[in-house]
Amino acid sequence: MADRLLENETVLVAGGAGFIGSNFVHRLLAPGRSVRVVVLDLLTYAGNLENHQAFEKDPRFKFVKGDIADPGVVAPLVEEADVVVNFAAETHVDRAIQDQSLLVRTNVEGPLTLLNAARVHPVRRFLQVGTDEVYGEVLEGSVDEEAPVKPRNPYSATKAGGDAMAHAYWATFGMPVVVTRCSNNYGPFQYPEKMIPLFTTNALEDRPLPVYGTGKNLRDYIHVADHCRALEAVLTAPAELVEGEIFNVAGGSEHDILEIAGIILDTLGKPRSLLQHVTDRPGHDRRYAMRADKIRERLGFHPAVDVLKGLPETIRWYVDHRSWWERIKSGAFRDYYERMYAGR
Ligand code: NAD
Ligand code: TYD
Repeated sequence: MADRLLENETVLVAGGAGFIGSNFVHRLLAPGRSVRVVVLDLLTYAGNLENHQAFEKDPRFKFVKGDIADPGVVAPLVEEADVVVNFAAETHVDRAIQDQSLLVRTNVEGPLTLLNAARVHPVRRFLQVGTDEVYGEVLEGSVDEEAPVKPRNPYSATKAGGDAMAHAYWATFGMPVVVTRCSNNYGPFQYPEKMIPLFTTNALEDRPLPVYGTGKNLRDYIHVADHCRALEAVLTAPAELVEGEIFNVAGGSEHDILEIAGIILDTLGKPRSLLQHVTDRPGHDRRYAMRADKIRERLGFHPAVDVLKGLPETIRWYVDHRSWWERIKSGAFRDYYERMYAGR
């Protein structure tokens, strides 16, 4: 059920043309809702206007192409917003290992620029969307929000910087900032460089599924719809429950690479012979695992979609939306992919 707080507010969704951001836009603009959405997105390789084509002519929706680290672009958009949600980031661990040039600008200066604009033009809430990867690998048990931040790759290191900046603006300037840290998402519109859509679309093309190392590395998977619901819970909660806080958002559904690959192959009726073990990712985090008691106890949030149901549904989405991913995989992605896997 739509929460009244966001209704009739303007939400600036930075990075709203990417995977999670566009799913969040679909949620905010569901039929009957009266939220106004402004998407600010640079349309990097990962941004795709097709992801919210459905709203092109919707009076509740506006799209602006621009960089979150550009103060001139950001200021007027924050001025018209009641709420800022920042999804924009360079998000792929493998790319970040190969090329660090954009990481600090997008993942640290970006949030800083949005925060500075919100200092001048106050908003009701500022949400920085973060990742469990900032805790580093968790070999046993699970971590809560008090655990030290120990990122181990260039992507997660800069995401930790963005989180810290957001939290610092709450402490220093009393701004209404919240940081969330979510586990691995899956669902529609995920760019096919990430494992689940890459394996699914490769299998559909009868191409090998490149399994890094042993295939035993563990991730905690959450459906993107559950993540978006958690974000909305944070945006609509009373200030005293969320401002200045960090919230872990976990799927509670731990699987290794080979298990996920097996579900994908079985769902598509493809043979195990498509599995191809390749050289491991450098510094590959073996496991992420968070406790998410805080968001459950304070905001009543817990994930609703079981991965054994959500994953086959997601795989079928890629079957039904072949033109969406074929266009991506036939363009610049092909060059990237061939470089990435050359010699592995
Ligand atoms: P994505 O790569 O699919 O999308 C990122 C979007 O940001 C793209 O639309 C891109 O064009 C845009 N962007 C990049 N640089 C920009 C800039 N300088 N200015 C404006 N827009 C820019 O990423 P995603 O998977 O949707 O992740 C969204 C957020 O959620 C990220 O902050 C990521 O760290 C976080 N997160 C992702 C996951 C996951 O499993 N995908 C899990 C936890 C947290
Ligand atoms: P990924 O989707 O890149 O997410 P992250 O590394 O941010 O968690 O990778 C998920 C897991 O799948 C991770 O253990 C690395 C592994 N992986 C492969 O085995 N092959 C691949 O081609 C990719 C992209 C990932």
